[in-house]
Amino acid sequence: MHDYGTKRELGPIRQSAVYTHGLDSAELTGDAALAALLDRYPEELIDINEYRFDERGQVTLRAGTRGDATGAELLEAVRRARIWVNLRGIEDQWLELWSRATDAFGDIAAAYPSLRAIKRSGQLIISSPGTRVPYHFDPAGVVLFHMRGIKRMFVYPSDEAHLPEVTMERVVARQTSEEVPYSLEFEADAQVFELHPGEALAWPLYAPHRVENVDGLCVSLSMEYQTWESRARTGALYTHAYMRTRGLNPPAVSTVNGPALAMKWAMSVPLRRMMVLGNRIAAIPREFVADPTASGGLRIQAQD
Ligand SMILES: [Fe+2]
Repeated sequence: MHDYGTKRELGPIRQSAVYTHGLDSAELTGDAALAALLDRYPEELIDINEYRFDERGQVTLRAGTRGDATGAELLEAVRRARIWVNLRGIEDQWLELWSRATDAFGDIAAAYPSLRAIKRSGQLIISSPGTRVPYHFDPAGVVLFHMRGIKRMFVYPSDEAHLPEVTMERVVARQTSEEVPYSLEFEADAQVFELHPGEALAWPLYAPHRVENVDGLCVSLSMEYQTWESRARTGALYTHAYMRTRGLNPPAVSTVNGPALAMKWAMSVPLRRMMVLGNRIAAIPREFVADPTASGGLRIQAQD
């Protein structure tokens, strides 16, 4: 048995849990609905990514564009490639889905008296059969509403061994892209959930996780929410990242509570505004174009 250190007990949700929802109809996620959605979706809110994994589970990311593909063509490319198409801003762009998802979120939140979301946003994720998302954590609460296909979610304990605090600080401060050190040894500690359409998964704040698509083209709505606590803790992580650059050694964020936590959040606000830590994530070059006529569903784009 490894000694993994203390598990972080944060946020209102302490155990991952599966819920049911009613967002899995063909009217929402059938081919025709998705193609029409992609036809009207603002270009600047669409991210297209491909992840490649080596035998140790280590990942490289390539980003792409839809080029001049229509919605139906982009969907066909997703079917043939191994890519993730993320539509950000669902809360503004697809009000019908958002209002239904908001109701479903309310049903889940009702099980947690302290779960009061002060801000929520949604991403629709359309992904290829058999593709995977690397090990990472989100600096907010998340509920994943699965709507089409079958995907497997692997959720790991949030502790120093699986997710070092300095890594969390760096990700929050955006000094690295959201990559978190991963080892195949972590697999023994994963809780695995096979999600079918109509099921939603909620997991503890900051718990690292990864995804494998098991069957078919997958569609999910990822709803991010901030509670006062998650916003304060994420702010404190930012302040801690700053303190570290000044040679200080801040305590674990899970040990900071009450007025001290509020103060660390308050400190993060001007630090962020002044961008004292900068933003070291350079614009990711777009290396491919989704193309249903190309072998593998995408075409490599010449770089300038
Ligand atoms: Fe995530």
